[in-house]
Amino acid sequence: FPIQAKAYTDELIQTAKTIASPGRGILAIDESNATAGKRLASIGLDNTEVNRQAYRQLLLTTPGLGEYISGSILFEETLYQSTTDGKKFVDVLREQEIVPGIKVDKGLVPLPGSNNESWCQGLDGLASRSAEYYKQGARFAKWRTVVSVPCGPSALAVKEAAWGLARYAAISQDNGLVPIVEPEILLDGDHPIERTLEVAEKVWAEVFYYLAENNVVFEGILLKPSMVTPGAEHKEKASPEAIAKHTLTVLRRRVPPAVPGIMFLSGGQSEVEATLNLNAMNQSPNPWHVSFSYARALQNSVLKTWQGRPENVEAAQQALLIRAKANSLAQLGRYSA
Ligand code: 13P
Repeated sequence: FPIQAKAYTDELIQTAKTIASPGRGILAIDESNATAGKRLASIGLDNTEVNRQAYRQLLLTTPGLGEYISGSILFEETLYQSTTDGKKFVDVLREQEIVPGIKVDKGLVPLPGSNNESWCQGLDGLASRSAEYYKQGARFAKWRTVVSVPCGPSALAVKEAAWGLARYAAISQDNGLVPIVEPEILLDGDHPIERTLEVAEKVWAEVFYYLAENNVVFEGILLKPSMVTPGAEHKEKASPEAIAKHTLTVLRRRVPPAVPGIMFLSGGQSEVEATLNLNAMNQSPNPWHVSFSYARALQNSVLKTWQGRPENVEAAQQALLIRAKANSLAQLGRYSA
């Protein structure tokens, strides 16, 4: 059954396969300038372009990173930046066989008519922006929308999230970018894990319905789901085994094996928790590559070690390698704390 051929189909499938390669995952450093500001403030630094560049340079020039990292999601500013000695960040990545990616959504705004929920902007002009990003070297894209369990979620919010993701995915593929499909089910709330599972099933059913309706090539997408956990304020925490069991239940019920990679977000879990949970999911074979696309769970120790000081750069890069290697082992199901 040949896949309906479009201009970039073969390349998309190859890109997705490269990102979903054994023992590797995604380093997400696509914080918007506002979010980057919060991270820099946590170590007493001002939110200037110079500081953002210095921090991203530290991360992307880590020697040996490509052994554990197959792709890195950048914010638009970073996609066009270079190292202080003039090498484009995209070239730094390519040399390590890391695929450059780009965050293309324009963030969340209130969704009128819903239960205080939000929707994700960014479809206007997306085709031309995506074509520009491709020219600049990006080969995959990310669009993050959110679903809130305590706010409902309302049928309207779920439908909007799913439809937006599907439109974005079709536009990305049309322009040579592998879309990462990310409906983040937020951790907030005191609900039990079973409720998260129920919501996740609903959300993924709609996402795949609209992906199919938009003729998206499933072999050329990647997913970025939240793990299925109890709400952050729930009275009991779940073990990595329970999280793995519930998360894999949703994936098996909703995600076709044609999808090459499931790259989880860390969503506020600690670094070690995120690694243990991923490891638990890889204790038996899965139909897809089950891996990571972490931002906070790969960067927390790096930031703390760096403190904005040039003399700490090397130690901070070692801290990144420690987390990247731990998650690489977890992708292979071979991590032990
Ligand atoms: P966290 O891993 O910090 O939740 O970030 C996820 C994300 O979407 C960044 O690209």
